[in-house]
Amino acid sequence: MSYLEVKDLKVHFPVKGGLFGRTLGHVKAVDGVNLSIEKGKTYGLVGESGSGKTTTGRAIIGLNKITSGQVLFEGQDITNIASASKDVRRDIQMIFQDPYSSLNPKKRVIDIISEPLRNYEKLTKGEETKRVQELLELVGLSPESILKYPHEFSGGQRQRIGIARAIALKPKLIIADEPVSALDVSVQAQVLNFMQEIQQELGLTYLFISHDLGVIKHMCDQIGIMYKGRYVEAGTKEDIFNNPQHIYTKRLVAAIPDINPRNRDKHLQFRQEVKNEYEQAYNQYFDDEGLAYPLQPVSDTHLVALPEKG
Ligand SMILES: Nc1ncnc2c1ncn2[C@@H]1O[C@H](COP(=O)(O)OP(=O)(O)OP(=O)(O)O)[C@@H](O)[C@H]1O
Ligand SMILES: [Mg+2]
Repeated sequence: MSYLEVKDLKVHFPVKGGLFGRTLGHVKAVDGVNLSIEKGKTYGLVGESGSGKTTTGRAIIGLNKITSGQVLFEGQDITNIASASKDVRRDIQMIFQDPYSSLNPKKRVIDIISEPLRNYEKLTKGEETKRVQELLELVGLSPESILKYPHEFSGGQRQRIGIARAIALKPKLIIADEPVSALDVSVQAQVLNFMQEIQQELGLTYLFISHDLGVIKHMCDQIGIMYKGRYVEAGTKEDIFNNPQHIYTKRLVAAIPDINPRNRDKHLQFRQEVKNEYEQAYNQYFDDEGLAYPLQPVSDTHLVALPEKG
């Protein structure tokens, strides 16, 4: 059984305009997403800017209103998470994209990290300080940092504070929205490896959002690729990286440099094939509105958005 299951999720935002602010239409930010994550695994959501990744994550956690569809967590319907039990709400936490803007600059580290704790647990001041110090140690920061402000930390350290806040309530599932994209490449690897360590240690399940396929390859077991609110392809890491089927996926995969010299010729050939197919047959992969077709299975694990044959 899957741990988190999202069924035909749609999030449509009204577009208002004119003198009376009437609804003129809708932005179909998420338009029929299905995904399923197993316990303890990492599911990667990839796609270019504006493809609907963040909206998907925010909808699951109740920060965006769901237009239609269903979200199940541990078999329980949490589509309307605001009215779900408090336990469920503490079980799912989010790490936000930008550690520079997601931490309140006027608050000290102790208040930032203990904010979720205060919503759910009655701790004495002493217990709270101890918990925050333990969390700081767990994320590799000095426990003496509790009285500092966010600006006194580097980007990587700030994201560790964001992670400490997210894990303060011992959640089961973390939605990590581009957790390293605001960081230098050298710091990215440290934070990613650290996220994998705490995943093992705390038995976490991740929904990992990124536009960077290299990062997704490093982190994820299952992958979904979004384009304009829809999926173009979904499968295991092997399906996506060794056997990409949709031209959009192929282009993303071909763009990742292959650093293994033994694969060089093969990779260059693949890149050339993709370039040719992109120039000659790109339109065949999308419908008249330029959107992805419904997904079709190509194996037990692998789905691709292709026009129906016949
Ligand atoms: N609150 C909102 N109201 C109206 N439109 C919105 C809202 N939030 C997002 N959108 C639109 O929905 C679409 C998807 O946005 P979303 O932020 O989910 O994309 P994303 O894949 O996370 O992109 P990025 O990689 O840039 O973070 C975009 O067209 C965006 O403008
Ligand atoms: Mg986003």
